[in-house]
Amino acid sequence: MEGYNEVSFDDWDDQNNKRAEQETEFSKIVSRRAFLGYSAALGASAFLLGTSALATTKAQAAIMSNGNKFNAVAANSLDTITLPEGFKWHVVAQWGDPLFSNVPEFDHATRGTAASQALSYGDNNDGMDLFQIDGANVMVVNNEYTNRGVMFGYNESGLPETIEDVNKGKMAHGVTVMEIAQSDGKWSIIKDSRFNKRFTPDTPINVVGPVRGSSLLKTADDTKGTTILGTYNNCGNGRTPWGTYLACEENFNGYFSNSLGENATRTAEQKRYGVNNKDWGYGWSKADYRFDLSKTPNEPNRHGWVTEINPATGEAKKLTALGRFKHENAEVVIASDGHAVVYMGDDERGDYLYKFVSATKYVEGGDNTKLLHEGDLFVAKFSEDGTGRWVNLKEAGMRADETLVFARIAADKIGATTMDRPEWVAANPFKAEAYVCLTNNKHRGKEGKNQPINAVNPRANNQYGQIARWEPADGNHSTAEFKWDLFAVAGNPDIHSDVNAGSQNINSNNMFNSPDGLKFDKFGNLWIQTDGNYSDKDGFAGMGNNQMLLGNTATGEISRFLVGPKECEVTGLTWSEDYTTMFVGIQHPGEKGDSQFPGGPGTTPRSAIIAILREDGGVIG
Ligand code: FEO
Ligand code: CA
Ligand code: CA
Repeated sequence: MEGYNEVSFDDWDDQNNKRAEQETEFSKIVSRRAFLGYSAALGASAFLLGTSALATTKAQAAIMSNGNKFNAVAANSLDTITLPEGFKWHVVAQWGDPLFSNVPEFDHATRGTAASQALSYGDNNDGMDLFQIDGANVMVVNNEYTNRGVMFGYNESGLPETIEDVNKGKMAHGVTVMEIAQSDGKWSIIKDSRFNKRFTPDTPINVVGPVRGSSLLKTADDTKGTTILGTYNNCGNGRTPWGTYLACEENFNGYFSNSLGENATRTAEQKRYGVNNKDWGYGWSKADYRFDLSKTPNEPNRHGWVTEINPATGEAKKLTALGRFKHENAEVVIASDGHAVVYMGDDERGDYLYKFVSATKYVEGGDNTKLLHEGDLFVAKFSEDGTGRWVNLKEAGMRADETLVFARIAADKIGATTMDRPEWVAANPFKAEAYVCLTNNKHRGKEGKNQPINAVNPRANNQYGQIARWEPADGNHSTAEFKWDLFAVAGNPDIHSDVNAGSQNINSNNMFNSPDGLKFDKFGNLWIQTDGNYSDKDGFAGMGNNQMLLGNTATGEISRFLVGPKECEVTGLTWSEDYTTMFVGIQHPGEKGDSQFPGGPGTTPRSAIIAILREDGGVIG
């Protein structure tokens, strides 16, 4: 196995949690048949494409919904931010920036302490949203995990070695709430604001919904199963119409280990969720017995939820009705019949796409704060003919709390469609339709992996990813039936002429791989962020560093707007209230040691939120 810092989280999980444990002879046959059913020699005609994915334009001048134009930027491998002419950027917040005036500024040599980190901006920013509260701009942002080779670069192992190291890493996880303000055109953190708060893996969080008080949540420290310590590995996010933020707990499993040894017995549920006897190198069990499975076997059940945060009050709660899995983001829409609908991906090779529908309806101007406490959870089944259906997890016939704590197992029983790692979902503000990034999946179509090729995941060994979309029946997001097609199939048309060339709206000027972040702005522009292979070599030649692109959902045109620095992922996106600033997240620059973003030569690379403005001060959108 590769070293901890050389292998991605999903690859590590993959090496340590063989999905083959679930397969049957039948599934192998299905897999082989499905593989033979699609010819690798076929081009775009092999895909169930929307008409917009057939656009063949190679125009480099992109037009946003408001009529604003920009000249698309070329791919590159520079260690900076590249934007179209007429746009500029600056750093708003970067890993280790203090939120309070009594905390020292970030130290590039020591990279801070556990105590300073607990009161400073966390590492590896991901999903974010900006809220206007009592005249203040309050940014809420996920700090997904830690760029360990950088944080612990002073250790030869590049990993935490002392208890102080472990605690520093732990405190860099969670969510940061911070007031920001613009002065002389530049945004920065307002230290000591009453809104400033860090949610860490130790912050007590109330449990709401059907699983509150379940035996599956009880531990010696929480005998009632009602208060969970911490939220961590928050990836994408969501925002509710009632002014709260949804932090989505993703790879929570990688933090557990077992003092009885690597061969200690694991339950079927632990295996299905990738909970191992060996952690991912974070070492949390050395400092906190909750992460030792032999001592607290129920602790994994307390993570992998969506946590709702009220940035005005600093209160938080875990929403158990939304199910437990490796949550990517949580896209909230109010359906035409008034129910709140939350679309959610489970980011694992061959896992599923989910939808929550609230039991009660949204009341404009009313108290909607409990809308996500009760409802039904559905999983998607895609048919080959461009239709699909949401199936209620209750049909799995499991106990109510088990259905939510082990949602993956309920969805397995239902025979949901295995997907190519569902990342963010984004709903069109002007039309009842939603989009999902299916980032990549090297196991698709592989014998023995139980992930046969299907029309929505149409390529074996999918290296590039695709963006699928669906329209609910009757224009109502709470209905069970939907129609779907593919908006874009990423690929490299310069070197492939088969399915790996991608759909016709992919060309030499806009190539990308591994779409991940996805968000509509209020004008209807679809922004696509990538977390993929940045080697710029072989199958990825011509794609450069990770990037952000504009998608026009009506014409299918895709245009590159931003190129990130070296070794980063571009993830997280929000806007100022007046839309003259776009905030973009740059995560883990220099994850393999080759970046000094954003400080430049001689500095430690740091994840950061950047602000993007037009030089003429106009609206971006
Ligand atoms: Fe944290 Fe699936 O990305
Ligand atoms: Ca992601
Ligand atoms: Ca990703």
